[in-house]
Amino acid sequence: MNPAAEELTGFSRSHAAGRPLGEVFPPPSPLATLAAKTVAMGRSHADFDAHVVRSDGTRLTASTVVSLVNDPSGRSRGIVLVLRDSSRVRDMEEQLRRSDRLAALGVLAAGVAHEVRNPLVGIRAAAQLMEREPAFPPSLREFTGIIIRQVDRLNRIVGELLSFAGQQPLQRRPCNINQILEEALHLLESTLEGAMIGVVRRYDPEIPALAGDPDRLLQVFLNLTRNGVEAMASGGELTVRTRFERVAPQCGGRAAAVAEVTDRGSGVPPEVQRHLFNPFFTTKDGGTGLGLPISVRIVEEHGGTIEVVSRVGEGSTFRVLLPLAGDEEGART
Ligand SMILES: Nc1ncnc2c1ncn2[C@@H]1O[C@H](COP(=O)(O)OP(=O)(O)OP(=O)(O)O)[C@@H](O)[C@H]1O
Ligand SMILES: [Mg+2]
Repeated sequence: MNPAAEELTGFSRSHAAGRPLGEVFPPPSPLATLAAKTVAMGRSHADFDAHVVRSDGTRLTASTVVSLVNDPSGRSRGIVLVLRDSSRVRDMEEQLRRSDRLAALGVLAAGVAHEVRNPLVGIRAAAQLMEREPAFPPSLREFTGIIIRQVDRLNRIVGELLSFAGQQPLQRRPCNINQILEEALHLLESTLEGAMIGVVRRYDPEIPALAGDPDRLLQVFLNLTRNGVEAMASGGELTVRTRFERVAPQCGGRAAAVAEVTDRGSGVPPEVQRHLFNPFFTTKDGGTGLGLPISVRIVEEHGGTIEVVSRVGEGSTFRVLLPLAGDEEGART
């Protein structure tokens, strides 16, 4: 095993030396089978999506080629396995598929939303008119109330779908990320109190202005802080933190404003993390599953990204990275 293979798999050369391949990389990892086939048939075998379990138990997707090695006289000396980490390619493909899905959904959403809105207005108005009829029995108010509340809920979903269709261009102007976070917390004040959640603020006061759309960014931070609150059913602590990052590789190496929302809630299991940003993925009774996909869409429109760090039972951090305005505007204010 060369140093690159040690780094990739987490196994040391001394750990692997002298042991059967299938013991170091047990099935269902296909490495041992590939090796055996190569020896038996006398030609190379490959698996471009081979799953390998690293020493720490995490999974790696590796593009694997097994080849025969001969000495100069043509006698077989053994085989060599070449592993190439393709997880990053997989991640990028997944991201692409997601944005394709999002774009298609956006177009569909805009169409459906327009068609659904008008009948909703009619239903709501009819329920209100019914209530105003002199002969309307008060005992039925409960039902008209349900009609009106549910119509309002549908309207909210349709509104979110429309904003998701992303047809409004960003209204960019210099804005301060600390202020936007503060506004989100202000809007959530009564919710925070009701849920017995304390807020810890760790703002970087020197953070430069950012050329963004403050209303859309407010929506992002409302979604993230609300999710944080909802993850702490029995109260807890929500931390909001901002900082300036001079070189953010996630933003093409530009300077970025970084905002983090950390809860001490349920956390997100790894298998759920993959679905977090998919439209309509929700684990909540009243959830639409659009909060995070909308947030990602808005942040990506700003040229930024959202990252998640989460541990089950300990809580989650949602980190938003937003590239700063051009040098003239932001970085030196
Ligand atoms: N801070 C968090 N802690 C734990 N789980 C989270 C957190 N944020 C999001 N999730 C998980 O991700 C899912 C999707 O979140 P998202 O905000 O997109 O939709 P939602 O909160 O379910 O519904 P909506 O935002 O429309 O009310 C949630 O249902 C929840 O399972
Ligand atoms: Mg949400």
